[in-house]
Amino acid sequence: MTEVLTQAAAQEAEPNPLLEGLRLTRMPAPCAVVIFGASGDLTQRKLIPALYALAAEGALPPGVTIVGAARTPMSDEQFRAAMRSAIEEHSRVPLREDVWEGFATGLFYAHFDLQPDDGLDLLKSRLDESDRTRGTAGNRIFYFSVPPTGVLPLADKLLHAGLCQQGPDNFRRVVIEKPFGRDLESALELNRSLHEDFSEDQIYRIDHYLGKESVQNLLVFRFANGIFEPLWNRQYIDHVQITVAESLGVENRGEYYEEAGALRDIVQNHIMQLMAILGMEPPSNFKAETVRDEKVKLLRAVRPIHPDDALSHTVRGQYAAGWVEGDHVPGYREEPGVKPTSLRETFVAMKLDIDNWRWAGTPFYLRTGKRLPKRATEIVIQFRRVPHSPFGGHVATPMGVLPPDAIDPNLLVLRIQPDEGITLRFIAKVPGQAMRIRSVNMDFLYGSSFLKESPDAYERLLLDCMLGDATLFARADEVEQAWRICTAILDGWRAHPPDQDSFPNYEAGAWGPEEARAFIQRDGREWHRP
Ligand SMILES: NC(=O)c1ccc[n+]([C@@H]2O[C@H](COP(=O)([O-])OP(=O)(O)OC[C@H]3O[C@@H](n4cnc5c(N)ncnc54)[C@H](OP(=O)(O)O)[C@@H]3O)[C@@H](O)[C@H]2O)c1
Repeated sequence: MTEVLTQAAAQEAEPNPLLEGLRLTRMPAPCAVVIFGASGDLTQRKLIPALYALAAEGALPPGVTIVGAARTPMSDEQFRAAMRSAIEEHSRVPLREDVWEGFATGLFYAHFDLQPDDGLDLLKSRLDESDRTRGTAGNRIFYFSVPPTGVLPLADKLLHAGLCQQGPDNFRRVVIEKPFGRDLESALELNRSLHEDFSEDQIYRIDHYLGKESVQNLLVFRFANGIFEPLWNRQYIDHVQITVAESLGVENRGEYYEEAGALRDIVQNHIMQLMAILGMEPPSNFKAETVRDEKVKLLRAVRPIHPDDALSHTVRGQYAAGWVEGDHVPGYREEPGVKPTSLRETFVAMKLDIDNWRWAGTPFYLRTGKRLPKRATEIVIQFRRVPHSPFGGHVATPMGVLPPDAIDPNLLVLRIQPDEGITLRFIAKVPGQAMRIRSVNMDFLYGSSFLKESPDAYERLLLDCMLGDATLFARADEVEQAWRICTAILDGWRAHPPDQDSFPNYEAGAWGPEEARAFIQRDGREWHRP
């Protein structure tokens, strides 16, 4: 029923000089970035390549110092060699010798151990030296890229080493990776303990989805265009779907996934953040607190699923062996680190209601899963159908002519990844003598409209942290509200565990279990295929 009417119809318009002037130069003050967990996967794949890309762009302040810290003994030279390989392998921008030379002179390594009796003396002396020789002036960012169990011991270590206290002329910030707790209680406890050592404005809880250009564009799309906001409510929107589909399985993270599952791994953080941005009220300005106030208000308005209703409001799934993108892949229970009798969910679908004037009666359907047919994150806004069609009996389909209520509803599809862009689906007349109508797509593609590669999410977020801009980081209450919603579901699931033989319930390469289709069909709706 659908064809592409125009390709990249949204051409980049002539730059508006007034808006161009709003692009402030974002140069942070000189600082030292300490990465705890510098021998780990995240540092090599994301953090160092992101810092290098910022250096290549000239976005880092002069004298910026990066100190890697981990348990593995390494000299500065060995660390530099490892980070050079990491950049060569993972960086978005190719390594250039002149940029690398400058970058490498600011790279250091300090051995540290999370064991309580191990101090941070070596690190401290490195940082003092950097203040003396590189002008970092006591400004420090401590990036916690250590296992979740290491977060509180590390925060205490920093406190005891006197490294948490910021002065009037310098800053001390900590960046905390996901997962932030494993339920509401542990997240509350983590926040409470962190607040003993740091004030909230020193804590940057990272959710890399918020650093994605396409997610930030959601804010621009909603609040810089006059035509969509009047329609953005229960009167015009039938329902919203948010899908985060992964074609990958659990790779080598089986043990982690056995503890986490799809709800904790994706819904509690990424999907809740997307939902908050999509559903919040317009902020009066773009300051961190204003934006986060609106997001948290939306999350607070989400009606919790009572544990007794968890089974009727959600669907759990686990993948069996199957075919994904042409390859035969094993089932979840055959993955390394996974119990052969595991009941951990690798797929979840749910329906949430938002109890406020904007969204009452317009449900949000959320789903995520591993080993789905393709990797795709997208939001679908399905508008209400026309109340009456004057074109009765003129809907063209390959099967013939259908009645008027078969006219497709308008859809707005916001593609977060890959192929970032926006599609508006509307109804058009099929050329010819007869009045035949069908759906067509109008597409905006980031790639073809801006002809410019988007920065990686970690680049944006690391730079924002250096600048002290917490808009794209989750505040304590946001994380707690997201856990409030997810913990109620987890409680319900715990009370009603799946039967041993009910899992696995979908083949790798399918769009989740059959039950997920029936779940949305009960409401007279269908999942949109990304
Ligand atoms: N990797 C990702 O894509 C990703 C994505 C989102 C969030 N995260 C989060 O980011 C954090 C790091 O993830 P990762 O994948 O990089 O983990 P990883 O590869 O296992 O690395 C963990 C790091 O922590 C260090 N470490 C562990 N125990 C230590 C101890 N007792 N004392 C000192 N250092 C210790 C390790 O040092 P040694 O190896 O030298 O012992 C290593 O550098 C985790 O919280 C994870 O949940 C990761």
